[in-house]
Formats: sequence, C-alpha cells, structure tokens
Amino acid sequence: MAEDKAAKKPYYITTAIAYTSGKPHIGNLYEIVLADAIARFMRFSGYDVYFQTGTDEHGQKIQDKAEAAGMAPQRFVDEISAEIKRNWDIMNISYDKFVRTTDPDHMAKIQKIFKKYYEQGDIYKGMYEGWYCKPDESFFTESQLVDGKCPDCGREVEYAKEEAYFFRLSKYAGALEEYIESHPDFIQPESRKNEMLNNFIKPGLKDLCVSRTSFSWGIPVDFDPGHVVYVWIDALANYITFPGYNPGGANDEFFEKFWPADVHLVGKDIIRFHTIYWPIMLMALGLPLPKKVFGHPWLLVGDGKMSKSKGNVIYADDLVESFGLDAVRYYCLKEMPFAQDGSLTYDLLIERINGELVNILGNLVNRTMAMTRQYFDGVIPESCCDEDIDGELKAMTIELHETLPEKMAALKISDSMQSILNVLRRANKYVDETTPWVLAKDPAQKSRLGGVLYNLLEVVRICGCYLKCFLPDTGDKIIAMLSTTHTDWEDCAVFGKLESGNTLGETQKLFERIDPAKKQKEIADYLANKQKTTAEAANVIPSAIPETAKAETVKAETALETAKAEITAEDFAKIEIKVGKIISCEKHPNAEKLLVFKVDTGEKVRTIVSGIAKYFDPATLAGKQVCVLANLKSAKLRGVESEGMLLLAEEGDKLSFVAPEQAMAPGSIVK
Ligand code: MSP
Repeated sequence: MAEDKAAKKPYYITTAIAYTSGKPHIGNLYEIVLADAIARFMRFSGYDVYFQTGTDEHGQKIQDKAEAAGMAPQRFVDEISAEIKRNWDIMNISYDKFVRTTDPDHMAKIQKIFKKYYEQGDIYKGMYEGWYCKPDESFFTESQLVDGKCPDCGREVEYAKEEAYFFRLSKYAGALEEYIESHPDFIQPESRKNEMLNNFIKPGLKDLCVSRTSFSWGIPVDFDPGHVVYVWIDALANYITFPGYNPGGANDEFFEKFWPADVHLVGKDIIRFHTIYWPIMLMALGLPLPKKVFGHPWLLVGDGKMSKSKGNVIYADDLVESFGLDAVRYYCLKEMPFAQDGSLTYDLLIERINGELVNILGNLVNRTMAMTRQYFDGVIPESCCDEDIDGELKAMTIELHETLPEKMAALKISDSMQSILNVLRRANKYVDETTPWVLAKDPAQKSRLGGVLYNLLEVVRICGCYLKCFLPDTGDKIIAMLSTTHTDWEDCAVFGKLESGNTLGETQKLFERIDPAKKQKEIADYLANKQKTTAEAANVIPSAIPETAKAETVKAETALETAKAEITAEDFAKIEIKVGKIISCEKHPNAEKLLVFKVDTGEKVRTIVSGIAKYFDPATLAGKQVCVLANLKSAKLRGVESEGMLLLAEEGDKLSFVAPEQAMAPGSIVK
C-alpha cells in the first residue's frame, strides 16, 4: 500500500503459545491458521499488524517428558519448539514473531514481574495443599474434582503439598467483574463470558498458587531459591514481555504502540486463564487489559477429541502432504463454526475439496480463463455493454468490501469465506445465464462476449485478492494468471480496475478433483509407511537410555522424531559437503517463504531452493561463499527442482550462512 506505515492503525493479535510437550496436531494448527487469516486480512485492509505466536516451554509436564526421552529439558524443548515452528511454516503462517519462554530476556522480565507483585503485596508465601493436573498445569481443590479426576480434561491428578507463593486474586475480583460487564466485547463468544462470570468470578475467586518447589524446570524465583514461577504466570506474560514491556523501566516504543492487544485467540479450554488470571496480572502491573479474548471452539476428529491413546491424532504435515496446503487451510477456516466444536474427517475434507474448491472456485477460474484464451487469444477484453443481468453480480462483488471488514472484525472467519464463495457461486450461475459459447457463435455479439468475460475476470480478480488472506498460494496463483497489478485494498472497492489489453499469465492448476476411495487408500498406505519408518527410527534411540525410557520415547513420538541418535564416522563419510558461491538469488515464483539460488559448486551451477526468504534480502546474497550439502537427493519444491541444501546456523530468530573462514574455490570439499 502506498500510504506511510507510520500512519496505519496498529493491530496486535496473538495465539496461545503451544506446550513443547509434543508434536502439534491439526487441532493446535487450526488456531494458528485462524489467527493467520485475521492477521493477513487486517494487513490487507490497512492495519499495521503485529502477529505473535510461539512456544510455552516450562513446567512439570515438559520436565517429565524430557526425562522420559532421556534428554536435558533445554535440548528437548529446543527440538520440539523447532518442530512446532516447522509446522507453523508448513501451514504458511505469517507470524511477525515466534517467541519461546526459555528466552533469557523473557525469563529476566518474569523474575522482575514476580518480585514486583511480591513487593507490592499482591503475592504472599503460604502452604499449598491440593490437587494438580499436570497435562493442564492446573490446581484444583478436592471439591472441584469430577470423579476424582481433572474437571477440565478428565485425566488423573496428583496430590501436592508444598510451600508456595499465592496471588491475591480476590483483591481484584470486583474490578475484573466490572470490566467484563462494561466491555461486552471483551470475552467472545458471549456464552463464554457468562460461564466465566457465573461459574468463577461471582462465586468468589480463591487466591492462586503461583510458585512450585517440587520440580525445577521453570523460571527461578530469584529472591527465594527452590521456588520456580508457576508456568501460567510465565506463559501469559509472553504477550507483554516480547513486544517490549520493561518491568521497573521505560517500555519500548513498540510496546506502547501495540499494547493493549486487539485480540488474544485461544482455545475454549484456556479461556479461564486468559479472562481471569491474565487480566488480574495486568491490573496489578497497572497495564490496560486486552481488547478481546476469543475462546474458539475445538476441532474434533469425527465427534471425539484427538488423543494418542485413541490413535486418532491427525498431524498437519500429513494432511498437507495428502491434500495440499490450501485445501487444509480452507477446511480449518471454512468448516469451523464460531462457537460450537467442528469436526474433521477425511470424507468431509474430500467432500469440501470437490464440492467447493474444485466445483465452485476452480471451475469458475478455469472456465473464465479458458474462454478468454479461446475467444480472445488470452487478451483481457474491454468492459462493455452494461446489462441488467450484470448488476447483481457486480453489486455482490463490490459489497464484499463493506461486509468482509465487519465480519472479520467480529472474527466470523467462516462467514467471511462463505460470502466470497457466494459471489463465486453467483458468477458460475452468470456463466450459465449469459452462455458465452452461444455469444461466441455470433460475430455481432463479440463486444458483449468480451463484456461478459471481463465481468467474470473482474470477479475472479477481486475474490482472488481477498482469497490471498485465507489461501495465500491460491490467491497468488489467481493474481498471477490475471497479470494484474490492481491488487490493493482500495482496488477491490471498484469493479472495473482489471487492465483490458493485458495478456493472461500461464494457466496454473488450483485444486485437483479427488477420487474418495483412491485417496482413502493412499492415506492408509502413507500412514502405514510412516508408522514403519517411525518404528525403524525407534531402533536407533541411543542405548544409554534405559529400556523404560525407550518405550516411553517411542510413545511420545515427538521426541522420537526430533532426537538425533549418534552416528559413526562411516555415516558422516556418506555426506558430501562442498564450498559454493552464490551466483544469484531470487524469490520463488509460487511461495513467499522460499528463495531460489543458483550456486556454483565447482562441477556445476546448481539450483537450490531454501525456506529462508524471511531472513534475507535476495538482492544482497550474490557472491557470498556458502557450504552446500551436495549429495542430497534432489526434490521439487513448489515446482522448482532443488539440487542440494544450503547450510545455515540458527540461533532463535537469527540465521547465518555457514562458510569457510577464508576464500576457497567452489567445489572444495568440507570434511
Ligand atoms: N501452553 C498453553 C497455552 C498458554 S497461552 C499463554 C496451552 N498449550 S497447548 O499446546 O495445550 O494448546 C495450544 C492451543 O491449542 C490452545 O489454545 C488450545 O485450546 C488449542 N487446542 C488444542 N487442541 C485443540 C483442538 N483439538 N482444536 C482446537 N484447538 C485446540 O494450552
């Protein structure tokens, strides 16, 4: 957009930060895709967006999992956090910052925040006696348990009796109740607001236990060794520490600009933490409260929760592998209701791909492009001959510019996609009504034929621009096929901005029709094969891990997939690393996150595709020395064959090319 970024209104959106206890499943990813669509839409419609997500890395559950995997907790969370980030990247998530609660700066701020609460009398020391649910990292009294189990997740709880610090929630309960009542939008959907008020706040808030002594994997309370800060205090504060809240000092300008957050997007299971503990933590710091907490419903498999014990967990990377990225994003965004849980099955997914993505979107785009090629040699015709029949289609298309912002601001993502789909459906009907193939038979109707196709192409342009927020790759393909530069927010307010006379770009396939029986078989084979590979990988767990831990590790397949076993010198000898010189680097034509390199490795110039677009400006890389994994099996990445891998060192959000310390000829062997 042309206007100055500084003049744009800020918009801060967060997701819950995921526990680094295991590989995330499609349910976890649903939330992130939802946040991504909102962030992209807000950017598109003119906001300066800050989108923060990341991982929650402390707590008893994670310490136990790391022990079971025979790994130091830090290494365990490093690997799982990287796996989680990889999954976010697979889903094409446009986060601005991926945070980790083991970040030293965050940890130091939490210590200061904890001390401040203590010094101002919000926290006091006492004795905790009660029940603890490890998977939820939650405390319960005897009377809150349901059949002796966790009232939230139904799992076993453990008895805990230990010295602990407590937060005086009761001191702020009145102010919180008043805030919730006077800000009807604060807790969404409405049903969750009533639940919080009636079940928790009005009956009276008990003081919250905010430190633990029975394990050590947490942020130490610096003035009382042996205590670690309760993981929810550590986790919730991520929303302020990372954008630049500085306890006891001046806050970063960035923080002052973006806080309070516009929306915290979280699952319904953790809304209590976000609408009771979190606002009180903020009140005690004298900070304004977030504008909205949206407790989204859950994605179920069939009608049940996903769980490893039921064996029904669906992972995002598997789904993307089988169905393609945008089909999976579409399902998460379009099929999930606003307030009730949604359901995912392969059958439903296939039905939506065939029924909506192929029949409605793909069909309209294909036939419109094909007719433009057939009747006008692929040159976009002139707009012409305004007829009554055109009116409804044009009005519906233009109306999106008014209705989408309202719907998206209310977080009605599925409704927003439905209204785009309605326009596409209407356009398909318009094709049947105007019968371009009949017009094409009559040379006198050439201008009208051009006008009809122009209208259709214009619907495709405007819908394609909006679709970029939800299905970014598909939107990009549509825009590339139209060879248009009119893709800004304001360009979507006007019907008629498509450039007549431009030649259409190359045809690109959007979605393939799926044969349900064939696909089901393909998935079964894929999963069986994956299971086999996983079982084989289990055999290479280092023998230093005791048998019991080995079994546990095989179950917690996250650790299994990320833990690296020792290798021998012979294993290393199989790897061929060569010094290379970057000849050129460009953005990948079909994927925002990828760069395409030409690298001279002595024997030839290779094409190498690397997912590092976010970190480097391609214009600055030519001439650089690099190290290349040269005997990696080549693979097609979004249509471009990649012949090797560039080696990079990673530290948090920082990436650096690995290269010899002095100039070496391309092709020199690294050993
Ligand atoms: N670490 C805490 C959040 C701290 S935020 C300060 C946590 N982590 S989690 O990994 O268990 O969950 C991350 C998010 O995924 C939560 O918002 C949770 O509700 C969501 N989901 C987990 N399973 C889900 C589905 N099946 N469907 C939709 N969302 C789900 O809680």
